[in-house]
Amino acid sequence: MRLDLISIFPDYFSPLQLSLVGKAITAGLVDLNVHDLRQWTHDRHHTTDDTPYGGGAGMVMKPEPWGEAFDAMEEQSALPLTVVVPTPAGRPFDQALAYELAERQRLVFACGRYEGIDQRVIDHCSEKYELIEVSLGDYVLNGGEVAVLAIVEAVVRLLPGVIGNPASLDEESHAPGHRLLEYPNYTKPPVWRDRAVPEILLSGNHAAIANWRRERALERTRERRPDLVDDDIGNGFGA
Ligand code: ADE
Repeated sequence: MRLDLISIFPDYFSPLQLSLVGKAITAGLVDLNVHDLRQWTHDRHHTTDDTPYGGGAGMVMKPEPWGEAFDAMEEQSALPLTVVVPTPAGRPFDQALAYELAERQRLVFACGRYEGIDQRVIDHCSEKYELIEVSLGDYVLNGGEVAVLAIVEAVVRLLPGVIGNPASLDEESHAPGHRLLEYPNYTKPPVWRDRAVPEILLSGNHAAIANWRRERALERTRERRPDLVDDDIGNGFGA
């Protein structure tokens, strides 16, 4: 998969060189390309924002640098392109969307700052490419960069070959087909600061352990996320 991340703060993305995503890059499973939007400005101050038409607080990102950025994206690779624009006004990000994005050959992330990007850039992109506006949640970040870190990590770990044991993807919270939060996990030692590991986990009785885990998962989900068990809002995978 090819990833292009466009931002006025490209340094935000250095953590992607670490851990699992970093390994996926080193292994050639992910081709990561980070671009500084200011390279597509032509004034002395490398201006990327301006005041909003109609008035109001804040600044809006100018369309011209973004237009040139997308032209350059097309020149750099002929792979079909999906544009992801992080915005609190977007489709809520969930595991179903992570799986959808993991099927694309190329994702181009356009990071807005301030009050966002001039709407004409969004309209231009949605005419030319597949475009998905994505929200990380109902809160406001200062820009799209932190959202991109989360989305890229959630997507890259789903790519074939990235996670050593793909079975671990099936068991985790929000995995397709099971809508429960994950049960609590324990490791050695059996007693730590007077707290013992639940005895059943030491019993060797696999059926009883599976049953216990399912009960704990149900209990946790009912308590923390009743929407996942009691109705159809869920995690996007249906019942
Ligand atoms: N940019 C600013 N806030 C955001 C959010 N909640 N999700 C995605 N991108 C954002």
